[in-house]
Amino acid sequence: MLASALVSIALLATTAFAAPPSRSARMESRLARRREGAHLSRPNQRLESSSLNGGNVSHVDYSSNWSGAVLSSGAGTYKAVTASFVVPTPKAPSGGSGTYSASAWVGIDGDSCETAILQTGVDFTVDGGSVSYDAWYEWYPDYAYDFSGIPIKAGDTITVTVTASSTKAGKAVIENVTTGKTVTKSLTSSSALCEQDAEWIVEDYEEGSSLVPFANFGSVTFSGASATTSSGSVGPSGSDIIDLRQSGTVLTSVSTTSSSVTVSYV
Ligand SMILES: *[C@@H]1O[C@H](CO)[C@@H](O)[C@H](O)[C@H]1NC(C)=O
Ligand SMILES: *[C@@H]1O[C@H](CO)[C@@H](O)[C@H](O)[C@H]1NC(C)=O
Ligand SMILES: *[C@@H]1O[C@H](CO)[C@@H](O)[C@H](O)[C@H]1NC(C)=O
Repeated sequence: MLASALVSIALLATTAFAAPPSRSARMESRLARRREGAHLSRPNQRLESSSLNGGNVSHVDYSSNWSGAVLSSGAGTYKAVTASFVVPTPKAPSGGSGTYSASAWVGIDGDSCETAILQTGVDFTVDGGSVSYDAWYEWYPDYAYDFSGIPIKAGDTITVTVTASSTKAGKAVIENVTTGKTVTKSLTSSSALCEQDAEWIVEDYEEGSSLVPFANFGSVTFSGASATTSSGSVGPSGSDIIDLRQSGTVLTSVSTTSSSVTVSYV
């Protein structure tokens, strides 16, 4: 009796300590980039309990501002994150008019690690008939800054990569896959990375005090998606899946393979 009670307690304790941080705690800790002078950042807001996806390791969560895939592990795990994608043509959602935006990026940290986030990616904006793009890099909590010298247009294939050379130094690189031309920004920060989250995200970012109206971005497939660890590269399999939901409507659908993450506007 005593022995079996102890076994139960031991099992409970093992379960408790083996479990990753609660979904709620992790979602609430998610940070977003901030555009210089415009975009502001606050912790993400969890909308709903996660649901286990059958026997899969993946979880599905809902967020008002993030969609995509997040891998999380122990501190010091992820040294680089990369993927390629074809730059989409954003549209106004059906019935909408005005300005709509979204952003696709890869990053290290900002999920279970709250102290810093190293990210790079591309914003896409549609304003009436006009579409524009900005390539940017950021080491949160500093703002995001635009790259210059990499004019982006719909249909371009680009590779985005962040690399941490230490917890306080790294670089962001965007490559034009057609030409091999790259823009690189070396960054340092006093805000140390934990190197424990790797992510591939399409985001509805914040500007002023509200989220920008979210564009119908069609679909973004992060191909060649991988994260570098000290023991080799890992793909997005087993990532936590996040769908973007606003006003009760789920706006994205996310799927992963061992080397890709596809985020579709639905
Ligand atoms: C995410 O959206 C919520 C509103 O639903 C907002 O309160 C929060 O600040 C946003 N987080 C970020 C990081 O933009
Ligand atoms: C796990 O996910 C894969 C891909 O989404 C799916 O094909 C498979 O049926 C899932 N397995 C379970 C047990 O849900
Ligand atoms: C990549 O280079 C091609 C060929 O010069 C150009 O048409 C395209 O716009 C470039 N894309 C980016 C993102 O630099």
